[in-house]
Amino acid sequence: MSENTFYVTTPIYYVNDVPHIGHVYTTVAADVIARYMRSAGCRVMFLTGTDEHGQKVEQAARERGLDPQAHCDEMVVRFKDLWRRFNISNDDFIRTTEKRHIAVVQHFLKTMHDSGDIYKASYSGWYCVPDERFWTEKDLVEGNCPDCGREVVQIEESNYFFRMSRYQDWLVSHIEANPDFIRPETRRNEILGFLKKPLEDLCISRPKSRLHWGVEIPFDTDYVTYVWFDALINYVTGAGYTVDDEGFAAFWPNCTHLIGKDILTTHTVYWPTMLRGEGLAPPRRVFAHGWWTVEGRKMSKSLRNVVEPNLLLDRYGGDAVRYFILREVPFGLDGDFSHAALVGRINSDLANDLGNLLQRSLGMLEKYRDGVIPPAPAEAEMGELSRGLVQAAAAAGAELAGHMEVLAFDRALKAVWEFIGAANKYIDSAAPWVLHKEAKDAKLDSVMYTLFEAIRQVAVMISPFMPETGQKMFRQLGIAGRKELARVTSLQQWGRMPGGTRTFKGPALFPRIEEVPGVGLEEEPGVSPSAGPGTGSADTGEEKVDNVISMDDFAKVELVTGKVLEAENVPRSKKLIRMVVDTGEKRQIVAGIAEYYSPADLVGRSIAVVANLAPARLMGVESNGMLLAAHDEGGLALVTFDKDVRPGMRIR
Ligand code: MSP
Repeated sequence: MSENTFYVTTPIYYVNDVPHIGHVYTTVAADVIARYMRSAGCRVMFLTGTDEHGQKVEQAARERGLDPQAHCDEMVVRFKDLWRRFNISNDDFIRTTEKRHIAVVQHFLKTMHDSGDIYKASYSGWYCVPDERFWTEKDLVEGNCPDCGREVVQIEESNYFFRMSRYQDWLVSHIEANPDFIRPETRRNEILGFLKKPLEDLCISRPKSRLHWGVEIPFDTDYVTYVWFDALINYVTGAGYTVDDEGFAAFWPNCTHLIGKDILTTHTVYWPTMLRGEGLAPPRRVFAHGWWTVEGRKMSKSLRNVVEPNLLLDRYGGDAVRYFILREVPFGLDGDFSHAALVGRINSDLANDLGNLLQRSLGMLEKYRDGVIPPAPAEAEMGELSRGLVQAAAAAGAELAGHMEVLAFDRALKAVWEFIGAANKYIDSAAPWVLHKEAKDAKLDSVMYTLFEAIRQVAVMISPFMPETGQKMFRQLGIAGRKELARVTSLQQWGRMPGGTRTFKGPALFPRIEEVPGVGLEEEPGVSPSAGPGTGSADTGEEKVDNVISMDDFAKVELVTGKVLEAENVPRSKKLIRMVVDTGEKRQIVAGIAEYYSPADLVGRSIAVVANLAPARLMGVESNGMLLAAHDEGGLALVTFDKDVRPGMRIR
């Protein structure tokens, strides 16, 4: 087994569904663990995707007058768009209607049919004619269809079955020998309890006379496979089974499936026995998380309380939501989503604890050391307080690693926040303002260095959870793009922050939110403009037209006014000018305008700046932003204003 690989999956979501907070939960959790493991030096494969076959999809497509594939192609965009907005770093996205997947499903069917694990038998059940659905006796409600309440008829049908019962003893011993296979413990016990009764064989087909939209059974083309048999196999298709032996051998043994508690049996009973039938090992671990209620009530379409993730993103931003859902509830238990709780966390943990730590530290550094981080002190020169902070950092790093190993995200974050608390306390106790007043220069240098190395470590620790905030912090710390300083592995050595680094004080990471919205953030699925299929644009409901962007896309560009404070030519460059620009904060911008403007022309001018552009290095000089100008072969003209403007005004 290859030790340095990590494979994590989410369930594949029903393509018909409107994405909700439950889908976001698993996907964000998978993203956080994937980012963390990458940062810790692992080769990571992170897979998510959509479940696209079955009756409901066929029916929905028919109602819309579309071919099922065209319907799926439109619907899948909502998931893909949402994952992009949440900064989900999946390495692959699998759709069960893809050829690569169908081939693997048929491979399973064939192997298992050849070995006698799949057999044909007659099956009797209750059929709802209008719904075209089969039900077992125990599904019925007062003898009627549990879905529509109408009358059902008993029919007999031939189908294919998977001889799951054959693997019951093997499965029980596998679960007993591998305590980590089913997590958390309560779920493991639940399945061991379930396996005390004899396992029945599993019906895995539907006749084409009832369902077309599925994977055809290769040895009997009158049938397709039933959705679960098809869906579960996505996990090995995604790892390269049958086409990439090396990749599959590297990743499959280290696979963690993240799922919700409702789909535990399919993943820990059907799936491992299917794999056994195919001659493959079970996944290493299946972790079932709990369910979210919303403001104390079960999430349901009829209650109109389904939390629409795009609206949460618009209101709070992706990082705050990511933080909240993983901090608020232990992974594995049920939790309640409420706006008040989310706003509470934003204001206290994010704005207050984290945001203030960065903001006040940068403020002091600017005031006392012109924004430049002093050199690292020799260990012997560090006082008691500083040594305490170094220890707190080591403890937080170790706790983070331990909790991430077992997917205890809430505890991992708690440990990081204890360290943030320690850093804030360090400021209060070390009191840099007193050292400054008393001109204790060496001590002030030592304290400021220690503080900024601690903040760098905080940025490293929070980055898997809040990737955008991590980037903002690295940018403000002046180490954007320095990957070796951003990895979890860099936590093992105190003092990686380079002395002499120029910092850039930016806007607050998380502005406080004063009011808690009551209504308007929950909407019935399908009502929100962003939920409409095929719009392609996340929030406007407009038809997607090439080269047209939504308001939401435009709003992502932070355009502000800036005043040029300093300007100079970049040495050895004909085109570049380095400027220090006041945009409400001082930032360094490098622009290719030297052929049109001299540095002296620029100082004192008000210009338009893109403030949230990822930092770049031009001829070795870091640029944090971009100025706007009109340009063609005839020349270049800076965008300016027809009235006086104050630096940092938002341009819309
Ligand atoms: N297509 C199947 C999965 C096949 S995996 C081989 C499926 N899809 S789903 O879209 O209905 O659900 C996906 C996930 O969302 C499940 O893990 C489910 O537990 C989760 N959730 C649905 N509602 C939820 C909450 N209210 N809270 C948390 N997660 C919830 O099932």
